[in-house]
Amino acid sequence: MTAAGTGVLLKLGGELVESATGRRDIARAMHRLRESGPLVVVHGGGREVDAEMAAKGIPKRAVDGLRLTDRDTLEVVVGVLAGRVNTRLVAAARVEGIRAVGLTAADAGVSSMRRADPYTAADGSEVDLGFVGQPMGIEPPVLLTRLCDAGFVPVIASIGCDTDGQLLNVNADTLAGHLAVRLCVARLIIAGGTPGVLDEHGDTIAAVTEGLLEELIADGRASAGMVAKLIACREARRGGVASVRIVGGKGATDLDGSPGTTIGS
Ligand SMILES: Nc1ncnc2c1ncn2[C@@H]1O[C@H](COP(=O)(O)OP(=O)(O)OP(=O)(O)O)[C@@H](O)[C@H]1O
Ligand SMILES: [Mg+2]
Repeated sequence: MTAAGTGVLLKLGGELVESATGRRDIARAMHRLRESGPLVVVHGGGREVDAEMAAKGIPKRAVDGLRLTDRDTLEVVVGVLAGRVNTRLVAAARVEGIRAVGLTAADAGVSSMRRADPYTAADGSEVDLGFVGQPMGIEPPVLLTRLCDAGFVPVIASIGCDTDGQLLNVNADTLAGHLAVRLCVARLIIAGGTPGVLDEHGDTIAAVTEGLLEELIADGRASAGMVAKLIACREARRGGVASVRIVGGKGATDLDGSPGTTIGS
């Protein structure tokens, strides 16, 4: 991201990096993207967090894909995302010769955050999200631009902290959209377990305009994690990211060749 409008922000859904094979494929896809310029990776890990919470007997609560995060949940989220998921992905990247650096958004102002305001859900209800972060700031994150300029690939777990040092859980799509704007990347690629945004028949919608995006959320064709994803894509487009795509990443070693949905005109 040496110049405005270059580089790729790749967001990986946790589902894609759960298995060793999945991580190998994704690392190959990262290598391919890296060949064309700077690359920054943000990852989630929702399903591994769910499994760990279930094992500990902590109930899961979420609204529009945003996890309601109490203290017990936060402990699990930090441990799983910043620990296991991040480190394993960095290790898989190394096999492909990628100089990956594992970080969270709490590192050196990658993303300053404050606690999110109560959330108004798609169904109109208002919900206190707990220890959930709202990324802030507009300036390019110096740590990321320096790492990219030096040939490293930052791999960021979706954890941040506020100015009091309180750790916060942030939806990985929300963080990815925000960083894509601040880094002025040319492309935001959100890779997940479904081949893009699906319609009511389960078919991939090739292109979603901003009008259709609002409709999908309002009429429930997009729900759960897809709501947070679409809102993040809308913010990235409004923030000047020229190309925003939601693509299927399962088994893909070339994400540009994956079926998916283009967001915006
Ligand atoms: N219209 C839709 N098209 C595709 N997926 C949808 C749609 N509506 C709801 N979904 C759900 O959204 C999920 C994707 O969001 P989810 O948060 O679960 O995964 P992710 O964001 O890729 O991973 P992570 O949260 O680990 O980063 C899909 O697996 C699907 O269950
Ligand atoms: Mg998600």
